[in-house]
Amino acid sequence: MRIQHSFMNNVRLHFKENGEKWLNELPSILSYCEEKWEMVIQKPYNLSINYVAPAIMKDNNEVVVKVCIPGLEFRDEVEALKLFENQKMNTLLDYDLNRGILILEKLIPGATLVEVGDERQETLIAANILKNLHIKAPRKSSLHTTKQREKNLEEIITQYPTGLGPISVEELHKALDIFTSMNKTAKHDWLLHGDFHHYNILSSDHYGWMSIDPKGLIGEREYDLIQYMLNNLPLENAYETIENRVNLFTEELSLKKDRLLLWGYCHSVLSTAWSVDKDGTYSKPFFKGISIFEDLYNEYFT
Ligand SMILES: Nc1ncnc2c1ncn2[C@@H]1O[C@H](COP(=O)(O)OP(=O)(O)O)[C@@H](O)[C@H]1O
Ligand SMILES: [Mg+2]
Repeated sequence: MRIQHSFMNNVRLHFKENGEKWLNELPSILSYCEEKWEMVIQKPYNLSINYVAPAIMKDNNEVVVKVCIPGLEFRDEVEALKLFENQKMNTLLDYDLNRGILILEKLIPGATLVEVGDERQETLIAANILKNLHIKAPRKSSLHTTKQREKNLEEIITQYPTGLGPISVEELHKALDIFTSMNKTAKHDWLLHGDFHHYNILSSDHYGWMSIDPKGLIGEREYDLIQYMLNNLPLENAYETIENRVNLFTEELSLKKDRLLLWGYCHSVLSTAWSVDKDGTYSKPFFKGISIFEDLYNEYFT
């Protein structure tokens, strides 16, 4: 088995002892896949915390095998993939809930959106996917909601009453107030991707551009754009880049700019909080997003 060291470190950091145990089991899970689905697994893609590799089936059909630590997050991914069937989402061919295995249709050539190399084009492609992805949320679902995101921020504030990493106590409370009023005034529940960004958008000769790797989340459509807004930002002109993305997305998808900017503020605070590590490091782009969404809201709406 070819192992990427950064992948092993990420798994250990993220999942602690469970991660170590899973890493030890991984070779046998991969052998199980090869036997059960009669496939040969090839060299993995660039890995973060899941093992993802192309594989060739007995009939020469190409698929992708994704092995994750089984648990709630994995169940949510399976549920979201099933609910998004026939939308602009990669097809789930088979899965094993107990072993954390997904067998997915392989997207060919499977270039990620950043390879387009043109900011405006990329945003238009992403908007076009979302036009054909979001659907009304199912009435019964165990997927997380933006109300639970609000609760999560509330818990973070209880745990860190004087602020967390670079986020001041005032910012934490402001974000919670906005979260509360946004959730109270949200009009429709949509099924959202939950992790929609450049590296979860791949090219396919057969289907055009497609999304992969959904977390599944229930809330307003505007919320689903924020991860994209904060991802792959240039070192300079982050403000203008986010402003252009906001304007293109709201025009293309007929969404509300004020609500997008307000969700942007609270999600930037929450995702910065999630990124703060024990050693004090945190995600700089997420942190920068907090003031950019605040300034954009003030520029357009006050
Ligand atoms: N269906 C697919 N077809 C082609 N490549 C894929 C497919 N699914 C995943 N990949 C490749 O594997 C990488 C990681 O997959 P992803 O599901 O995003 O894992 P993670 O949850 O770890 O982010 C993707 O960025 C892409 O390069
Ligand atoms: Mg991904």
